[in-house]
Formats: sequence, structure tokens, C-alpha cells
Amino acid sequence: MLIKNRGEIPYSEVTPKSLYLNRRRFLRGAAAGVAALAGRFSQEILSPSIRAQAGNKLSGVVKGPFGTDEKVTPFDDVTHYNNFYEFGTDKEQPAELAKNFRTHPWSVSVEGEVKKPKVYDMDAIAKMAPLEERIYRHRCVEAWSIVVPWIGFPLNMLLKQVEPTPKARFVAFQSLYDPKQMPMARWAGISFPYVEGLRLDEAMHPLALLCVGMYGETLPNQNGAPVRLVVPWKYGFKSIKSIVKIRLVESQPPTTWNLAIPREYGFYSNVNPDVDHPRWSQARERRLGEFLKRKTLAFNGYGDQVAQMYSGMDLMKNF
Ligand code: MTE
Repeated sequence: MLIKNRGEIPYSEVTPKSLYLNRRRFLRGAAAGVAALAGRFSQEILSPSIRAQAGNKLSGVVKGPFGTDEKVTPFDDVTHYNNFYEFGTDKEQPAELAKNFRTHPWSVSVEGEVKKPKVYDMDAIAKMAPLEERIYRHRCVEAWSIVVPWIGFPLNMLLKQVEPTPKARFVAFQSLYDPKQMPMARWAGISFPYVEGLRLDEAMHPLALLCVGMYGETLPNQNGAPVRLVVPWKYGFKSIKSIVKIRLVESQPPTTWNLAIPREYGFYSNVNPDVDHPRWSQARERRLGEFLKRKTLAFNGYGDQVAQMYSGMDLMKNF
């Protein structure tokens, strides 16, 4: 994709920059290293918890299955290093520019190849099923990763309610696009509304989470309030934010990054350390806040649960 104007560089183009920690985090990380050695400063002084706008505490959340016991990434990192192109292409812009994003009232239309199409009010979604906390690894295609205590429930609960018809083979998702609230979107270099898709069996998989919160609270705007998807075995861009429409369809739906640069971003986008991005390796990743890189795991470490969905498929071609 030939995008020459600096203001129109899409996230794939700016990726090499983010293969390294941004300067602020790098300095903080380095300082923390020095402090650990010298034992002179407390972590609190070096890593002040600059909380994003306070969310509402979510009650009645139970511990869900599949959780990792890896160290959870600090809230401040997860809320100040975001990809949400509707609110700017720099990692720290969404926290600032989505501050006043209106997420109430909100509804999600579930439609298409279903017997019972329905427009769900956000409150109904949040109360549809017991809310679970799921601590998942989240691997961005840009080779950084985080561990997040998401809150939500399996997407399959919503899909079962609307009763997919036998024709439904894929699920298409669409984010809100409101140019008035998202003036930076026109410089992002990708088209909006942001759209994503899953095969129906992927969408029905118990790991696929319809997410309404994190760290015990409702989702911060920059992380996709009020409702987003979390698909932990796929690259982060499949986890579409601020969803307004879910449509069950017969054929494979278009997806934002595949539309933008099909050679670089496939429909499946399963985390695969053996298939490099055309411009960088996917073999290793940097966990935000850590200095050394770690090995990336096939299917982001969820292979035992999901690999069988792709048996017989050439994953070099279906990337
Ligand atoms: N959803 C929308 N609507 N717009 C986006 O720009 N970015 C995607 C995904 N969902 C994006 C989106 C990408 S590239 C990533 S890595 C994740 O959101 C980032 O989620 P996080 O900011 O909560 O870490």
C-alpha cells in the first residue's frame, strides 16, 4: 500500500517503531532496572499509577476458565498503549482523545442469518450471562504483548440466543463510526467503520469473549467501551472494539486490515511464530514493561484448545 503522507500512515506502516518500547516506557523500564539493582526507589515512585478515567466497578464477577497465571500487565500500560485508530494512530492518543467518547446509550444489533434477530441494549448485554474474569495473553501483530484480566462472557451465549440458521457460516462485526466524535479517524489511512470477522466455529469457541470490562471495572473508552471482542489465540486486531453490529452471514466477510493490506493481514490471523509478517519476524514478542523479548507461542499458547479447528488447513496460506 502506497501511503506517502505522514498523516495517513496506517498502523502496519508505523509498526517498526513499536517493535521497541516507546521512549517513556523504555526509560521507565530502564529506571526500574537500575532501581532494582540499587534497591533505592520503590516501584511506586518509578511507576506511578496514572489511572485512566475511573470505570464503574463491576459486581458479581466470577473467576472464569482458561486463565493464565502469568503476571498481569499494569493497568496503566494497558490503558496508555492502545491501537484504536478511530482516536488516532499513536499509541498514547486513544487514552486522551477517547476521553469524552459517548458510550451511553448504546445498543448492539444482532442480525443476518438468525431466527431471532434482536437489537440489544447495552444493559441487557451486560446482564445476559454471569460475568467472568478471564486472564488472557493478548498478542499484537506488532510483536508486543500484554496479559489482561478481561471481564465478559463467551460470545457463543449471545449467538445461541439469536439462533443461527443453517446458512450462517461466518460472523461479521462492526464498530461504531462517528466522525464527529472521532475526527482523527480521517487521518488513519484505513477505512471505517472498523470491521472484523470470524468463522462461526471460531465465534462459538468458548475462549472467544464478549468483553465489557477489565481490571474489575467497565472498559475504559480507549480499550473499546462499552463492548468489544477478545479472541486470545489471534492477533490483537481481530479483537474489535466498541461493537454496534454483529451479523451472521453465509460467506467470509471483509475485515479492516485485510482490506487495507491483504498481503500482510489475512482473514485468520492466528498467532503463528512460524509465519513472519512480510516486514518483521513474529517469532518473538516483547511483553509491555519487560526489557527482554520472549518466544511467541503457536496460537498464542491456546493451541490445546483451538488447534483442531484448523486441522487440515495450510496455515502458511491461511495466515
Ligand atoms: N477496534 C477498532 N474499532 N479500531 C481499532 O483501531 N485496533 C485493533 C483492536 N481493535 C482497533 C480495534 C488492534 S490493532 C489491537 S492490537 C487491539 O484492538 C488493541 O486492543 P487494546 O488497545 O485494548 O490493547
